[in-house]
Amino acid sequence: MDNKQLTVLLEKMTLEEKIAQMLQLVVSYFVGSEEDGQITGPMESLGISEETVDQVGSALGLGGAAKVIQVQQTHLKNDRLGIPMLFMADIIHGYKTIFPIPLAIGCSWDQELAEQSAIIAAKEAAVSGLHVTFAPMVDLVRDPRWGRVMESTGEDPYLNSLFARSFVRGFQGDDLTSDVNRVAACVKHFAAYGAGEAGREYNTVDLSERQLREYYLPSYKAALDEGCELVMTSFNTVHGSPATGNRALMRDLLRTEWGFDGVLISDWGAVIELIAHGVAEDEEQAAYLAVQAGVDIEMMTSCYVKYLPELVRSGKVDESLIDEAVLRILNLKNKLGLFENPLRGADPLAEEEIVFCDEHRAVSRELASKSCVLLKNTGVLPLQPEQRVALIGPFAQSKDILGPWSWLGAEEDIMPLDKAIQEKITSSNVFVTEGSGIDAMTEEQMQEALDIASHSDVIVLALGESSPMSGEGGSRSDITLPEAQLQLIAHLQTLNKPMVVVLFNGRPLDLRGVHDQVDAVLEAWFPGSEGASAITDILYGDVNPSGRLSMSFPQAVGQIPVYYNHYNTGRPKKESEPDNRYASQFLDIPNEPLFPFGYGLSYTEFKYGEMVLSAEEMTSDRPLQITTTITNTGYKAGEEVVQLYVRDITGEVVRPMKELKAYSKVLLQAGECKEVSFTVTEEQLRYHHYDLSYTSDAGEFAVFVGSNSRDVVERRFRLLK
Ligand code: IFM
Repeated sequence: MDNKQLTVLLEKMTLEEKIAQMLQLVVSYFVGSEEDGQITGPMESLGISEETVDQVGSALGLGGAAKVIQVQQTHLKNDRLGIPMLFMADIIHGYKTIFPIPLAIGCSWDQELAEQSAIIAAKEAAVSGLHVTFAPMVDLVRDPRWGRVMESTGEDPYLNSLFARSFVRGFQGDDLTSDVNRVAACVKHFAAYGAGEAGREYNTVDLSERQLREYYLPSYKAALDEGCELVMTSFNTVHGSPATGNRALMRDLLRTEWGFDGVLISDWGAVIELIAHGVAEDEEQAAYLAVQAGVDIEMMTSCYVKYLPELVRSGKVDESLIDEAVLRILNLKNKLGLFENPLRGADPLAEEEIVFCDEHRAVSRELASKSCVLLKNTGVLPLQPEQRVALIGPFAQSKDILGPWSWLGAEEDIMPLDKAIQEKITSSNVFVTEGSGIDAMTEEQMQEALDIASHSDVIVLALGESSPMSGEGGSRSDITLPEAQLQLIAHLQTLNKPMVVVLFNGRPLDLRGVHDQVDAVLEAWFPGSEGASAITDILYGDVNPSGRLSMSFPQAVGQIPVYYNHYNTGRPKKESEPDNRYASQFLDIPNEPLFPFGYGLSYTEFKYGEMVLSAEEMTSDRPLQITTTITNTGYKAGEEVVQLYVRDITGEVVRPMKELKAYSKVLLQAGECKEVSFTVTEEQLRYHHYDLSYTSDAGEFAVFVGSNSRDVVERRFRLLK
């Protein structure tokens, strides 16, 4: 359809039909659907008529080509104007081929593979009938108590922005109309959902405008610059007003300042929640606030369909607001080619072949092996096939390794770690027992663990959090491993055998009682469908670990929030004055995280050569070139993530101690040396000043190059203006 035809269609619609386009319901509401679909929020009675359901614009949470075709065809018969529905769902880290959780993907620092994972997720989702994914989630995160950090790529605005772009490119491709293997992306949760106080789910966010713009907004903007079609509102407040009814955020910033003209959808129930927030008196006012803010689709509550018709008829809401919203929705349908082809990519036969195919699983395995981060290794890893291994712990045989938001990932398709290890080495060298559950241990379990461990050469402990311990609604105040698992480590430690811990979890943990007790720690996160094989490849040295943390690990939960790009203070702690009480410090733990942003070990060693600057001064016309050499001084090929950080020494307002500005992932054979070069431009030195103007300062800067945000070499340069 062309724009004119869309307008003609809009003109034919009654007010009620238009407003029904602005409602999204889970699939159980629709004739022809035989299931509940993916339920990801509270199910209240909505009190809407069958007639409204027949006219609804979009459905949530149904996957499977045959089922989607059935619901769409039934809908087309019932809808007076035959307007096809949009089918949306949360395809967060894979449809059925499940990739590592996004936080793990962040640790890969691998944009190409991240994009590849989104291409595959889109292809599987599209052939199964879906049109839109509620991804990427690009919320910047600093508090690992929040369960949804698993769904973000981490704490850095630059790295998050790169991943935001990669995911959007992968989901959407270049042309949603002709490429039915892609789906429209919906960036979320706008804005700053990751900054909830104390990491408590759905909690208040109160940030300065500068914090918002410097840290939290760039990744949403990056997704939109990449052409992301939809935005989802967040549940939290921004500057005291819940995002879903926040005109300054949605109209002034998103629509006017950023020029976003795609579809804005509420999160599940976020419109009615304006009442609980205390900014709307009732559903009518909630509808009023959300539509004024520019929310086009209300997800899973019915304030719009119940109250907007009267609000328009009484003149309180201008009908042009409804028309704009509906046009945006129709436009998206049109871009997806649904008016010509309402079934789009849905194809039950192709679905059989494509979904969870070997090719997709191979990519999932590769990404999982690049996402694991080796946090500690005294030399016990890699294991040797002839070693007798005691594999112990709640994740030794568990299939709960897909992680939250892996809706259609099926545990029956999963190979657990014990089987993967037994496939790699002769099974007579592997002894397996649970040792403990996630949070309880019996005397028998402990005895059995001690028994098999005492007959082994090395103990591999597979420990962690079950999936429901993170994800939405998965906030924890104590982010240590559950006590039973800490007990298990303590008991086994009495045997004085080498111990390796493999962690399965959705957040950086407080690792007291773990990292200080064992010889090696491999952070495997929730690694997805092929995770166990990927971990085994690393444990036995077939893959050299290359993951680097995209979120800091705290020394202790009381240190949170701890992140690398923090400000200095007026009384920074100085190494030269360890006894100075009047410094910004904790009395009981260091200020630095246990494992910093960018950190991760390899089975080989990398040596950095001298850092050479093209000049001591730069201008906007004369950018700075920074060159260094990296040598693999070990005996194994390996990948290093060479990281470049900058600090503005004196700003108009305080500036972070370090900011990631560039990185390069280099593969080096044993003994190989490579030159790595970066360019720093004036544009990269800009920031939001006191009046929020976005410019750079003339003056001195520090540039750091190194293998993580802590272990760097520093040089200085000046920006001339
Ligand atoms: O997309 C999600 C969102 O991230 C959290 N609430 C439910 C939505 C739809 O499932």
